[in-house]
Amino acid sequence: MTLRGGRGVKSGKRKAQGRERKGEGGRIEGRPGQNGRGIEPKSCIDHNNDMATLDILKRPVRDLRISVTDRCNYRCTYCMPRDEYTWIDRAKILSFEEIERIVRLFLLLGVDKIRLTGGEPLLRKDLEKLIGRLVSLDGLKDLSLTTNGASLAEKAEALAWAGLRRINVSLDTLSPEKFRQLTKRGNLQDVLSGIFAAQKAGLNPVKINAVILRGTNDDEIIDLVQFARQHGLEMRFIEYMDVGNANSWSLEKTVPKKEILQTVHSRFPLAEVGRRDGHAPAVDYRFLDGGGNIGIIGSVTEPFCSSCTRARLTADGRLVTCLFAQQGYDLKKPMRGGASDEWICEAIASVWSRRQDRYSDLRWETIHSTGAYQPRAHKKIEMITLGG
Ligand code: GTP
Ligand code: 5AD
Ligand code: SF4
Ligand code: SF4
Repeated sequence: MTLRGGRGVKSGKRKAQGRERKGEGGRIEGRPGQNGRGIEPKSCIDHNNDMATLDILKRPVRDLRISVTDRCNYRCTYCMPRDEYTWIDRAKILSFEEIERIVRLFLLLGVDKIRLTGGEPLLRKDLEKLIGRLVSLDGLKDLSLTTNGASLAEKAEALAWAGLRRINVSLDTLSPEKFRQLTKRGNLQDVLSGIFAAQKAGLNPVKINAVILRGTNDDEIIDLVQFARQHGLEMRFIEYMDVGNANSWSLEKTVPKKEILQTVHSRFPLAEVGRRDGHAPAVDYRFLDGGGNIGIIGSVTEPFCSSCTRARLTADGRLVTCLFAQQGYDLKKPMRGGASDEWICEAIASVWSRRQDRYSDLRWETIHSTGAYQPRAHKKIEMITLGG
């Protein structure tokens, strides 16, 4: 397989050029060829997916979640309630060309699913141009987007036209007042219009993400299910997680997946379908009456780290190997410094081969064994920066 758009150098030169480069705050540190165990990872060029790079827990990299901007027009209480935040400098944000280049390399490493996220991805100007660039790349099976839906009504048509097929929209409540309280700045009607515009534009499925918080919207589970069934949407419930450092998560506010399932099942009987492709965050269920599917994401009480094949790319080009990571690995600096495709590819493979993240598993083990889990003891990258 050959790389288009690459700036590869011959292998002898590559070593001299690549290995001395220093990462900017990341941990690549100019040594992409070493995985910490003195083994040279194989080159990504001519990569054969049957020999995919595995992490320490034997997980391949299959999904890439790309944050196209860290900006957001909402301030959801469970994600980023702070008004002030240190935003990434515009000059540091990856261009579409740079994102495409990194995506091509991830595809060579075995990734076949890309999700565009933020912050709020629709705030990135001309996002449909990025979709147009990515959609027909060799090896890409699934391109999707997660949005808060605020400007989806104006953009759905252009996104679909550019080649987007499906979309996930956040909607935690059907009450306009509660919606305003939860998002601090949002307007429920805008999101509802966005959801219907997405359907009208042919995006399918349109999945609805609701984070369920005890005492806030746990009384709306059935209403949300009914809304989704009525409109042909796929409802997904998400356990409240201690992402980032700014929310006031506690285990008491997390409604366990089992409880959500029981609530829905007692009104609309369900049968388990399982995780899509065996490694999706959501466990899917189908309504026995043929009314469609729902998904439940039990990141806290039923963690799925053992099958986690997701890498994340921040808007400023840091590769992050876990939603709860404390740091990323800067790919932008070597890329802007002239590193070859092969060098960057080796760097990615090297980072992945050293990955041993299983934060949600460990959290659950700690809660069970000592009950003394301290969410704020571990300073994480904010979810708004990370791409969810
Ligand atoms: P589909 O491909 O449509 O199933 O999307 P998805 O569920 O992977 O993506 P989405 O952006 O809709 O995320 C839904 C929820 O799952 C969000 O709360 C994410 O933070 C959470 N999530 C996604 N990936 C991971 C992960 O690797 N670990 C954890 N703990 N949560 C995740
Ligand atoms: N817990 C669970 N899910 C969250 N999301 C944002 N913050 C949290 C949290 N603390 C969800 C959003 C969006 C998805 C990308 O992540 O609602 O649907
Ligand atoms: Fe809310 Fe999503 Fe913005 Fe976070 S990124 S504040 S979840 S809309
Ligand atoms: Fe993957 Fe980290 Fe989430 Fe576990 S906590 S599923 S390793 S992203």
